[in-house]
Amino acid sequence: MVNNAVKELNIVSNSPDDTISLGKKIGELAMPGDIFLLSGILGAGKTCLTQGIAYGLGINEYTLSPSFVLVRELYGRLTLYHMDLYRLENIEEIAELGLDDYLYGKGVCAIEWANRGMSLFPEEHLSIEIVYKGDIERQFIFKAHGQRYLELLEKIENQTE
Ligand SMILES: Nc1ncnc2c1ncn2[C@@H]1O[C@H](COP(=O)(O)OP(=O)(O)OP(=O)(O)O)[C@@H](O)[C@H]1O
Ligand SMILES: [Mg+2]
Repeated sequence: MVNNAVKELNIVSNSPDDTISLGKKIGELAMPGDIFLLSGILGAGKTCLTQGIAYGLGINEYTLSPSFVLVRELYGRLTLYHMDLYRLENIEEIAELGLDDYLYGKGVCAIEWANRGMSLFPEEHLSIEIVYKGDIERQFIFKAHGQRYLELLEKIENQTE
């Protein structure tokens, strides 16, 4: 039976460090094949959160928005595939990248500007929308699509209470 349950979790961040810590928790809880789809305006904090995810996976390299290299591979407890679709104009261009090896591999995918290619991604994923609230305030809206991500959100919720 396909589980179509969607659960939502909202978390407010009051600083870049807060966002890094949140990302770190996600990285620590990440499992092979996890897909994190990030959206939010320029400077919302997508890369900042991904930096935290990298730390949580035991990766110490600094993650920059991979605007020129569309996919960066970072090696930790699990491999992190950090992608950024900002420069891609249309869905065909994104489809041509052949992202399936990453999406259906054993690593963890964090995809910035995922909203540009939503229809190409697996139905089961965690969507993370970052809303710019002010100078240093951001709202993170997590939506779990699929059982795995419901469980992940529950753990994140328990650890951030
Ligand atoms: N609470 C916060 N969380 C994350 N970043 C914050 C926060 N408050 C301020 N910032 C600042 O906002 C910026 C976020 O930049 P970041 O590169 O992560 O955004 P982005 O969403 O990846 O943008 P882009 O679409 O250009 O890739 C940084 O300069 C960071 O210092
Ligand atoms: Mg970025």
